[in-house]
Amino acid sequence: MKILKKKKSLVRSTKKTWSGRFDEPVSKLVQRYTASVEFDRRLAEYDIQGSFAHAQMLSATGIISAKDLVVIGKGLHQIQDEIQSGKFKWSLELEDVHLNIEKRLIDLVGDAGKRLHTARSRNDQIATDVRLYLRASIDNIISLIKNMQKAILELAEKHVDTVMPGFTHMQVAQPVSFGHHLMAYFEMLKRDVERLIDCRKRVNKLPLGAAALAGTSYPINRKMVAQKLGFEDICKNSLDAVSDRDFAIEFCACAALTMTHLSRLSEELILWMSPSFGFIKLNDRFCTGSSIMPQKKNPDVPELARGKTGRINGHLISLLTLIKAQPLAYNKDNQEDKEALFDTVDTLSETLRIYADIFNDIFINKDAMRDAAKCGYSTATDFADYLTKRKLPFRDAHEVVAKAVRYAEKKGCDLSMLTLHELQRFSPLVEQDIYSILTLDGSIKSRNQTGGTAPSQVRKAIKQAKKYIYLK
Ligand code: ARG
Repeated sequence: MKILKKKKSLVRSTKKTWSGRFDEPVSKLVQRYTASVEFDRRLAEYDIQGSFAHAQMLSATGIISAKDLVVIGKGLHQIQDEIQSGKFKWSLELEDVHLNIEKRLIDLVGDAGKRLHTARSRNDQIATDVRLYLRASIDNIISLIKNMQKAILELAEKHVDTVMPGFTHMQVAQPVSFGHHLMAYFEMLKRDVERLIDCRKRVNKLPLGAAALAGTSYPINRKMVAQKLGFEDICKNSLDAVSDRDFAIEFCACAALTMTHLSRLSEELILWMSPSFGFIKLNDRFCTGSSIMPQKKNPDVPELARGKTGRINGHLISLLTLIKAQPLAYNKDNQEDKEALFDTVDTLSETLRIYADIFNDIFINKDAMRDAAKCGYSTATDFADYLTKRKLPFRDAHEVVAKAVRYAEKKGCDLSMLTLHELQRFSPLVEQDIYSILTLDGSIKSRNQTGGTAPSQVRKAIKQAKKYIYLK
């Protein structure tokens, strides 16, 4: 008896809302392990929205009285205020956001509060909350991406005629307009927005009414709830509605792609900022120094964005793994979807916010870009094309130019610095007009097809992009 007593005091325990059929309350440890209120309380606003819409429907269908609805509405309103002002007392013992709010409602309004959970389960309730949260998050992320696109557009517009080396295999390949390079990211982000818009359609379906898993025997009106909460439609199968999280996985996949794009951009900024490139300077507020090397200015923000991409990719895998072996319908495993999802939303949103700021305030060293484009024989392809247009088969022209490059390399100069006489030693087809071809601006200007780097094409692309971003 003594031993038993001691055990009980070690494993402290508490009574639960649902503990009617339990002999023994859960231990503190299990309580901590199973509770989600620490993180799901961020869903409170959506939980209240969902509850109010549910109550409105219960009243409209005569399941609860109009008087109950008024009282519930007032109670929920007060709870919303308490949460917003930080006065609400969250309790771990009440497990999650739903039970915390419901308990407070019952304390405030009594029996009407106890009737709110009629024809509903936490299983369809949580699925609804997450969808409402994610829908709002998607809308916010889309506007953040668009802000970043605007910043990119502004910068691209200033640098249509700025020449930089374009790379393949990280070797100088052909000169490109810096504006063109920036617009590549605009395109990636545009697809990211398209993906999110598409994903939002599948997020925007109402699970409520599925109840625990099998639907409900009450004469509910799901369409009414959907309409009140702004859902496009209702989930068509109750088992699916409470158990699947594919909409969240899809969002995480979209987010992983956007972060991947930002990570590539980060990698470029890090390279461009290194003194060996010297193409750009980031404002001091985006960098930090070294504790040992006084000369250092480190690109912490892009490095972290690149690093955080790993985390976002990890969240995608977490959610896929979370679902993969779950039998239908709801399982508590699903509680584990939240932290990954929330962190994905937070990390992506913050990264986008910082990047728009970076692009609004970045220093571009045009001369360093141009100088780098002059190295590495970036106009060699133009030379080959010149010969091809004079009827030398392209493969032969390639060979001729390769030899000329080797010669120039030995001399330690650029192709454009070779005399006409020297160039003619490689092919008699070369004439004085070759020099306009071998210049960086000549090379860029010649790539004048849709999607190419010619400044006139880049200007056109920017104009179209502006229409899309400002008018759509
Ligand atoms: N906290 C739970 C979750 O996040 C809510 C649903 C719990 N349902 C249940 N029957 N235990 O998924």
